[in-house]
Amino acid sequence: MNESVGISGCRVCGSDVRTFIDFGRQPVSNAFVDPADTAGEVFYDLAMGLCSACSMVQQLHEVPRGVMFHSGYPYRSSESRFVREHFERTAVGLVEGELGRRDPFVVEIGCNDGVMLETLRRRGVRHLGVDPSAGAAEVARRRGIDVRVAFFDEASAAAIRDEEGPADLIFSANTISHLAYFDSVLKGVDALLAPDGAFVFEDRYLGDIVERTAFDQIYDEHYYLLTARSVRAAAVRFGFELVDVERLPVHGGSLRYTLARPGSRAVRPSVGELLAREEAQGLGDIATLRRFADDTERICTDLVALLRELRAQGCTVAGYGATSKSATVLNYCGIGPESVAYICDSTRVKQHLVTPGSHIPVRPPEVFAAPYPQYAVLFAWNHAEEIMAKERRFSEQGGRWILYVPDVHVV
Ligand code: SAH
Ligand code: TYD
Ligand code: ZN
Repeated sequence: MNESVGISGCRVCGSDVRTFIDFGRQPVSNAFVDPADTAGEVFYDLAMGLCSACSMVQQLHEVPRGVMFHSGYPYRSSESRFVREHFERTAVGLVEGELGRRDPFVVEIGCNDGVMLETLRRRGVRHLGVDPSAGAAEVARRRGIDVRVAFFDEASAAAIRDEEGPADLIFSANTISHLAYFDSVLKGVDALLAPDGAFVFEDRYLGDIVERTAFDQIYDEHYYLLTARSVRAAAVRFGFELVDVERLPVHGGSLRYTLARPGSRAVRPSVGELLAREEAQGLGDIATLRRFADDTERICTDLVALLRELRAQGCTVAGYGATSKSATVLNYCGIGPESVAYICDSTRVKQHLVTPGSHIPVRPPEVFAAPYPQYAVLFAWNHAEEIMAKERRFSEQGGRWILYVPDVHVV
């Protein structure tokens, strides 16, 4: 079943979009499936292009949002200690900075299991999380967080504004890039945000993705790969100004954007500095992105060759981290359980299912040591430090990690 719909022009400005990478037919990345019931798997066409006018990097086909995000959506932000700490620091920073006024109201788009709002709740900040994935939202609700199970867009934002009043801050992490309907989101932000409020969001950054050839960040949910330049252009189009940017180390390199109404805040020097850096890096040039696609091909060839060699030698190979990123690597490279026998992952709702398309069993982390494989592909490479520390014994007893970002290497 192919569910995606081709776009006819840039989803933000309508201009021509030039393709630079094409992964062909891919499964929905978080659609882990019961091994006895793989017949109904949903596929889509995964290719990305660059808008010749506003420089937005985006997919050429759109997966309907309800196919990706629903009550069974398995991603849980709180699985990583580093991620929990990152959002605790973020929330404390917001309370002590942006929210310094009396009784602020904060709305989070894509609150998931409440990893960020938990800290605001503990500090007594009035808040509302919005997330269509009822399973994840229920975890947040059990933590005492106010949640609305809905897709944030122009309509739901207007309803929130009517019922709760204006938001002083709208925050979002790793969600805005997922929303093809960026126009509707920004109109919703416009309807909901107080006149002097800020819209702060962070997402994986194209600059880091290109620098590290982190091609596995490309999958259905990551509809846009954002830059300061493309976000600034979209902001202007919908009546906002990009007033601040901050680079973050999370998820292999992210960028935090602050949008406000034009003239309501001073534009920080970081914006101009990063725009100049993006220009020097050639992030808006199709040639740069085509080089990235060539580098991707090389990495995939190397990874397949390494796994084939290990198989020929009779080595045992497992995986670690049943990430959504792994869907692109596994399916594009044609890697299945014959090369990677199973993948360990701490997320309960992924365990005992198989990976979408590639059908590799997902197992609890306890299985990793019983007995250890000789090699483990670290699909959650963005959590390398945390996972390698947690699984120190694997290396100590001779196990080797295989990484494929920024190139294929064994440690
Ligand atoms: N903010 C968390 C979760 C990111 S995963 C973190 O950074 O770890 C993306 C989340 O966005 C999912 O929980 C998904 O259900 C949610 N989402 C998808 N579309 C959305 C929309 N239109 N409005 C609000 N949340 C949305
Ligand atoms: P992540 O890289 O955050 O996201 P994505 O799905 O967007 O690519 O996913 C990390 C996965 O790795 C997640 O399924 C949880 C798992 N994980 C572990 O199993 N153990 C750990 O110690 C950590 C940090 C993550
Ligand atoms: Zn455009």
